Amino acid sequence: MARALIMDDLAGFVIAHAGMRQEFGRLARVARAPRDAGHAALIEEQIALTTDVLHCHHTGEDRDLWPLLRRRAPEAAGELDALAAEHESVDPLLAAAADTSVMLAERAEVLDALHERINTHLDHEEAVALPLMLDHLTLAEMEEIGRQALAEIGRRRAPAVFGWYSSGAHKELRTAALATVPPIPRFLFNRFWWPAYQRRFEALYGAAERALLGV
Ligand SMILES: [Fe+2]
Ligand SMILES: [Fe+2]
Repeated sequence: MARALIMDDLAGFVIAHAGMRQEFGRLARVARAPRDAGHAALIEEQIALTTDVLHCHHTGEDRDLWPLLRRRAPEAAGELDALAAEHESVDPLLAAAADTSVMLAERAEVLDALHERINTHLDHEEAVALPLMLDHLTLAEMEEIGRQALAEIGRRRAPAVFGWYSSGAHKELRTAALATVPPIPRFLFNRFWWPAYQRRFEALYGAAERALLGV
């Protein structure tokens, strides 16, 4: 018989949220006054990456996860519909944040609004969906959700996305999340991706912010 899920099995899902909770507030701060053109270009690259990955995360939840939970827990349908509606309400902010036809500094307010809205959504989602996932999903289903998420991130973006997610997390969560990924990306993360991302993080947000990372 399949064993019941425990919180550590959901660490990949939770660490993605941890990255999403931090990033848009950080981006709003630096978008107001980039150091130079190179810094501005790196901020734009980070906005493009993180808004696209967040959109993919929401799409995957609406396409796969919520329908599965609705089938297993029909009484939660109303709450799951509310989470899907919140995704829709985030979309215009994602589009506005990534709209390079508007000056970067002028998008700082949108990034702040996105930061607020995504944190409210994640509070709601973690209160509603995590208990449902623990009660109604099997380990095999959770592993499939993780594989799907990795495939959507893709090989090219995986180093930066793993680093981004980790930059929002404490060490225990990072260790738990790494235990859920295959050995090769786990090795590459420890050896190359995480040190490289810390350098990228410092270039984006400064040495003082980097010193606060739970490395
Ligand atoms: Fe989520
Ligand atoms: Fe969500």
